Amino acid sequence: MRWYDYKVKYPEEECQLDQDEEWITLVSEGRTEKIRLQDYETLYSIPGLYEEVIYEQLQCNSPQVVCSMLKEEIEKTKEQAAGLRVLDFGAGNGIVGECLDKMIGCDTIVGVDIVEEALEATSRDRPGLYDDYYVMDLSKLDDHKEKQLAKWDFNALVTVAALGYDHIPTRAFLNAYNLLDNGAWVAFNIRDRFLSEEDDSGYKEILHTMMGDSLTMLQDRCYCHRLSLSGEPLDYYAIVGRKNKNATVS
Ligand SMILES: C[S@@+](CC[C@H](N)C(=O)[O-])C[C@H]1O[C@@H](n2cnc3c(N)ncnc32)[C@H](O)[C@@H]1O
Repeated sequence: MRWYDYKVKYPEEECQLDQDEEWITLVSEGRTEKIRLQDYETLYSIPGLYEEVIYEQLQCNSPQVVCSMLKEEIEKTKEQAAGLRVLDFGAGNGIVGECLDKMIGCDTIVGVDIVEEALEATSRDRPGLYDDYYVMDLSKLDDHKEKQLAKWDFNALVTVAALGYDHIPTRAFLNAYNLLDNGAWVAFNIRDRFLSEEDDSGYKEILHTMMGDSLTMLQDRCYCHRLSLSGEPLDYYAIVGRKNKNATVS
């Protein structure tokens, strides 16, 4: 049975859940299903659900924040945004691709995500948006995947809401980064906690090492990525910079 006519029920506001524990209940014709907000396979397979919960109810504005910062930095140079060949890593159902297309207007946008349902939802809801879209795990970059991606000659990497937690691991982020030309634009966001002293995801270390060496940071901003289910702001850092050279973090 498919969920087209459904209602979303949210947990009580006093229900304090960590970001990777959050869930909603979907109700349709007497049937209910509890869905974790990080269960992307299920969220993407129900048309409009991800947009309704993450973007409308929880007021996520990260695609706009990250894309507008990238646009601002490009406009400070004599370069043309229209020449951008972007790898949208952790592309999900295409909301970031749509934002890049509307706000910046790139030459090429290629999506990569690890779940098949992301590709299916993008083709269903935003057909023709991406020049290509790959379902692949970049933490293991073999020759075949490298060839498939290298042919796009990327000069920009955009990654929104996909670093940290059980999402894109540091190795995969570095592999994507190292596919870029030197001088490429890099725009991403990450929850503040992954840059704190207590973090053990590895992001604090690799970003610290990269920023002093392989990545020149141009702009950073701490902002509310979205609300939690209990209405608290979830603060993220958005960072825009340019690649100097490959990152060789161990
Ligand atoms: C919160 S969603 C963000 C989607 C989109 N960037 C947006 O902002 O709407 C995180 C996405 O990262 C993807 N993801 C998680 N781990 C990944 C990995 N190792 N490689 C590629 N994508 C991954 C998930 O499948 C999911 O689509």
